[in-house]
Amino acid sequence: MSNDFILDIRNVTKRFPGVVALDDVSIKIKRGEIHGICGENGAGKSTLMMILKGVHPWGSYEGQIFYDDHELKLEDRSIRQASEEGIAIVYQELTLVPNMTVGENVFLGREPRTKTGINWNKLYSDTQKILDKYHLDIDANALVKNLGVGKMQMTEIAKALSENAKILILDEPTSALSEEEIVHLMEILKTLKSHGVTCIYITHKLSELFRITDTVTVLRDGRVITTQPIDKLTEDALISHMVGRKIKERFPKGNRKPGKEILRVEDLRAVDPDDNSREVIKGASFNLREGEILGIAGLMGSGRTELVSTLFGEYGRITSGKIYLDDQEVKIDSANHSMRLGISLVPEDRKKYGLVLIQDIQKNISLANLDKFSKWFKIDFNAEIKKTSEFAEKLEIKAPNLFVACQTLSGGNQQKVVIAKWLMSEPRVLIMDDPTRGIDVGAKYEIYKLMNDLAENGIAIIMISSELEEVIGMSDRIMVMSAGKSRGILEPKDFDQEKIMAMATGY
Ligand SMILES: Nc1ncnc2c1ncn2[C@@H]1O[C@H](COP(=O)(O)OP(=O)(O)OP(=O)(O)O)[C@@H](O)[C@H]1O
Ligand SMILES: [Mg+2]
Repeated sequence: MSNDFILDIRNVTKRFPGVVALDDVSIKIKRGEIHGICGENGAGKSTLMMILKGVHPWGSYEGQIFYDDHELKLEDRSIRQASEEGIAIVYQELTLVPNMTVGENVFLGREPRTKTGINWNKLYSDTQKILDKYHLDIDANALVKNLGVGKMQMTEIAKALSENAKILILDEPTSALSEEEIVHLMEILKTLKSHGVTCIYITHKLSELFRITDTVTVLRDGRVITTQPIDKLTEDALISHMVGRKIKERFPKGNRKPGKEILRVEDLRAVDPDDNSREVIKGASFNLREGEILGIAGLMGSGRTELVSTLFGEYGRITSGKIYLDDQEVKIDSANHSMRLGISLVPEDRKKYGLVLIQDIQKNISLANLDKFSKWFKIDFNAEIKKTSEFAEKLEIKAPNLFVACQTLSGGNQQKVVIAKWLMSEPRVLIMDDPTRGIDVGAKYEIYKLMNDLAENGIAIIMISSELEEVIGMSDRIMVMSAGKSRGILEPKDFDQEKIMAMATGY
C-alpha cells in the first residue's frame, strides 16, 4: 500500500440475520486527513467503525482491511488490540459508567498501577493533564453522573484522546454538545490534524462536514455511493447521494390553522428535586393553541428540557406559578398524571427514558398505546400490528421485520421507534424534545410531515430544537429561553436566526 493511505478498506461485507449491513465496501483513508462519513440511518456507518475497533470480532466477514503496512485480522480482534494499534473510537452512544469519576472512566481497564494496586494519584493527575491540555473544563474527580450530557460527551472524547491514537474515530460526537462546545471540538480536531492524527468523522449534520472534513464518503444501504473531496460537493449533492433522490424542500409546508388556547403557563418557577436550592426554571410564561407548533429555542442549559420535563410532571419541583389546561388550573405531579390529562413527551435522552432495548419494535411502539387496541379487555393483535407497521413504514424504520429487538437497530432507527410510539399515542399536547437529533435528512422530512398531520388534526405540539433552521422551518411561533427564563415569543415575521441568537444569549 502506498504510504499516502493509513487505512485501506477493501471489499468488506458484513451480514447480520436478515440484514446486509456492509456490502462490498471499499474506502481509502489518507494519512492525516479528516474523513467524513455520512448516510441515512442504518446505512452501515457505525458497523464499519465497530469492525475497525474490533467490537464485532465474531461472525462472517468478507474482505480485507490494511492499516499502516499490515492487514488487520478481522476475525479475532479485540478492543484492546485496536487501542494498542492506535485506533480510538468515540461511540455514538455514551459508554461511561455513571457512578465512577471522570478519571476512573478515562483509564477504565488500563489504570496505572503500583506494585500493590491502582496508582490513584497518577490516574487523577494524568487525567487532569489530558483535560487541561485540551482546555476541557472538567474536574477529573467529578462523578460522571453529575455532569451534563455535553460534558459527558467531552469526557468520552478525552478518553479517546488519552489513548494517543493514530486514528481517531468519532461517531456523531456533537449530538449533545452546545454550539460553543462544538467550536471547541473543531479546534481540537484541527490541532490533532496538525500533529498528523487521522480522523474519521461520522455525522448527520451536513454543516459540520463542510466545516471540518477534507474528504467525504457517502454510504447508502451498506454500499459506498461516492468518496469525494469536500470542496467538490454541495449540500444538495450530498443529500441526493445520501437519499438517492433530490429533495425539493427541507420543511413541508403543511396547512396548520391554530385554534383556541389549550395550555397556558404563567410565571412558572421550579427547583431541582434533588437539590432544592438550585432553581432550574426562573420564570417561564407562554400559551399554546390547538393545532399549533410552538418552537422552543435556546442554548443548551437554557432550561428548555427542564421546562418541558416539569410540565410533564417528571422532574422539577414547582415553587410558584400556574399551569392551566382548557382554562382550568392543573397541578401535574407525575408523568402518569400528565398522560391522563393528554400530555405526552418525546424525551431528549431516548435511550434512558424511551425504549426497552431487549424488546422488539412492535412491543416498544405499542406499549404506551395498548388501550387503543383493547376491546373488552382483549388485545386486538391484528389491529395493533397493522397500526405499528403503518408508523414503521412512514418513518422508514430500517429493520428486517417488526419482531427484531431494538438493540439490533442503528442509533437513528432506535430514535424513530420512540418517536413512533409517542406519535401513535395521539395526545392533545405533544411535547418533543429535540425530536430529530441523530435522524437523517430523509427521515426528518417524514417526521415533519407527521407533525403537520397531527397539528392539522388539532393536536398542539411543543418542539424543542437546537437547530435554528428547524425551529424556524416548522414553528407557528417561537419562544426563546435563556438562563431558565422565557425571553419572549416571536411571530413568523420576526423569525430570524440572528434575532433568536441575540435573545438566547442576552441576559
Ligand atoms: N448487532 C446487530 N444485530 C443485527 N443487526 C444489526 C446489528 N448491528 C447493526 N445491525 C444492522 O445493520 C445495519 C447498519 O447499522 P449501523 O448501526 O451501522 O447504521 P448507521 O449507519 O450507524 O445508522 P445511524 O445513522 O442510525 O447510526 C442496520 O440495518 C442495523 O439494524
Ligand atoms: Mg450509527
